[in-house]
Amino acid sequence: MTQTSQNQTAIEVIKERHSVRQYESGVKIPEADLQEILSLAASAPSSWNLQHWRFLVIQDEANKQKLLPIAYNQQQVVDASAVVIVLGDLQANLVAPEVYASATPEIRDMMVKQIEGAYANNPQLARDEAIRNASYAAMQLMLAAKAKGYDSVPMGGYNPAALIQEFNIPERYVPTLMLPIGKAAKAARPTERLPLAQQVINERF
Ligand SMILES: Cc1cc2nc3c(=O)[nH]c(=O)nc-3n(C[C@H](O)[C@H](O)[C@H](O)COP(=O)(O)O)c2cc1C
Repeated sequence: MTQTSQNQTAIEVIKERHSVRQYESGVKIPEADLQEILSLAASAPSSWNLQHWRFLVIQDEANKQKLLPIAYNQQQVVDASAVVIVLGDLQANLVAPEVYASATPEIRDMMVKQIEGAYANNPQLARDEAIRNASYAAMQLMLAAKAKGYDSVPMGGYNPAALIQEFNIPERYVPTLMLPIGKAAKAARPTERLPLAQQVINERF
């Protein structure tokens, strides 16, 4: 594949991703597809490469039914093949020794010290980092799903406390997004964007 056609594919995937809210029920994503999609999402960039995302993958019908009231009865959480809850790690500093395991001891110690210094007594930084970095993986997840022939819809409309309780999510992780993925039963509603000139500020305010 030439560089140009690869770029074209990425552009098409970006342009073709839309929030689909109606799914064919009873469709299972083949395990190999799901693993590939999750693995592509996990290749997202992250501060210090701490990979703050965790993917809670829900495919079991009974569990999807449990999501329904938590997501204020948005039916897509039941009909989609899988619902991925993208979590952010509030203690991503703890994985630093593992991330830098293959570095020289000097580099590893330096990085771990730097990261521990940044995270020490700074819950605001930990939360910002968790949500920011998990969001990059969430976006890659949507695009990877689209590239593999599936649709999705990012969802913030759910009760986080109820989600945490029902699925036993440890305090260490903050839910950032609920993402149903599946085969579209109905095309997405068309959406528009604000004029680019309104969104772009050149040089300075
Ligand atoms: C953080 C976030 C939360 C959202 N929450 C919901 C939701 O709870 N339910 C829903 O149907 N769509 C939800 N959406 C989808 C948006 O409505 C949609 O992305 C937007 O209208 C643009 O449409 P498009 O995704 O098709 O381009 C959410 C999107 C984002 C990024």
